[in-house]
Amino acid sequence: MPCYILGIESSCDDTAAAVTADDVIMSNVTANQEIHASFGGVVPELASRAHQQNIIPVIHAALQKANISKNQLSAVAYTRGPGLLGSLLVGASFAKAFSMGLSIPLIEINHLQAHILAHFIRNASKTNPIPSFPFLCLTVSGGHTQLVIVKDHFDMHIIGQTIDDAAGETFDKAAKIMGLPYPGGPVVDKLAAEGDPARFTFSKPSVPGLDFSFSGLKTSILYFLRDRLKEDEHFIEKNKADLCASIQRTIVDILLLKLEKAVLQTGITEIAIAGGVSANSGLRSGLQNLRQTRGWNIYIPPLAYTTDNAAMIAVSGYFKFLKKDFASQSAAPYARSSF
Ligand code: KG4
Ligand code: ZN
Repeated sequence: MPCYILGIESSCDDTAAAVTADDVIMSNVTANQEIHASFGGVVPELASRAHQQNIIPVIHAALQKANISKNQLSAVAYTRGPGLLGSLLVGASFAKAFSMGLSIPLIEINHLQAHILAHFIRNASKTNPIPSFPFLCLTVSGGHTQLVIVKDHFDMHIIGQTIDDAAGETFDKAAKIMGLPYPGGPVVDKLAAEGDPARFTFSKPSVPGLDFSFSGLKTSILYFLRDRLKEDEHFIEKNKADLCASIQRTIVDILLLKLEKAVLQTGITEIAIAGGVSANSGLRSGLQNLRQTRGWNIYIPPLAYTTDNAAMIAVSGYFKFLKKDFASQSAAPYARSSF
């Protein structure tokens, strides 16, 4: 009999639930919160309220799609942090009550580790390749940009990270400057497909070691556009695709340059990407090129497991379940953390 894990994710603005049977995905349901688009970013109080509304229907749908009843669950895993505290509290409270009501173990998951462990979600036929340890993971999301050596499922070491903005945040801020909707990353990605990435150049950071910096790039985009708009108020409209392609290329170049440096430094050529920005087509194809030219083994998650999802929480829960690493009812959510 497989071990059924219910995963719950509510760290930001997606309410998500998923069921795994051991490490195999059974269902993966996400309710996106449209409400934030009109504010140009996530409004924490509105996110918590929407989680409250969504959580029961989303969990119900995940169990139904997996075709199991709640009584068949072996454990419930939830995101304890990092994230927005009000959002995390909704998922955490539900998970705690559910585990207590069903008398099954409660498992707490670190959201950033879960993005990486998304690579271990198996499809029904178990044919998808999974990375072998140790591997190097570039985690790029709305709030984080990290280079991580993954020695085991829960033995992870950050060897580089951003000293200011995250890669996803940079996509979102650049989009906002151009008047594009939130979240900007997917919009920039789409428009970039039609544009010339070599048309405009923006400043790249010179941060030592394996750390990243994106705040200079953001300022460079802001000043560049401010000057061009003085000459032509329709500059952005006329050059939208080229601007997006050039910005995307700059962000991807910054990421891949550090990744190459990390490979040289560690000697690890088993390479994965994770997090919302790993959905970016420029990053995905840049990595494919490096597979060819450098001979790395690369692991790119399916799109459904790039942005926030509960499948990654459920599979992480499975690996903790195997270790009997259970959480206490008194564990409070945390807004910030490394691992
Ligand atoms: O992992 P995620 O869903 O949430 C966090 O944990 O932060 O990442 C969200 C981030 C947002 O900044 C969003 O703009 C970015 O991922 N993103 C993308 C793409 N899809 C999502 N950035 C660039 N290209 C994309 N296709
Ligand atoms: Zn995330």
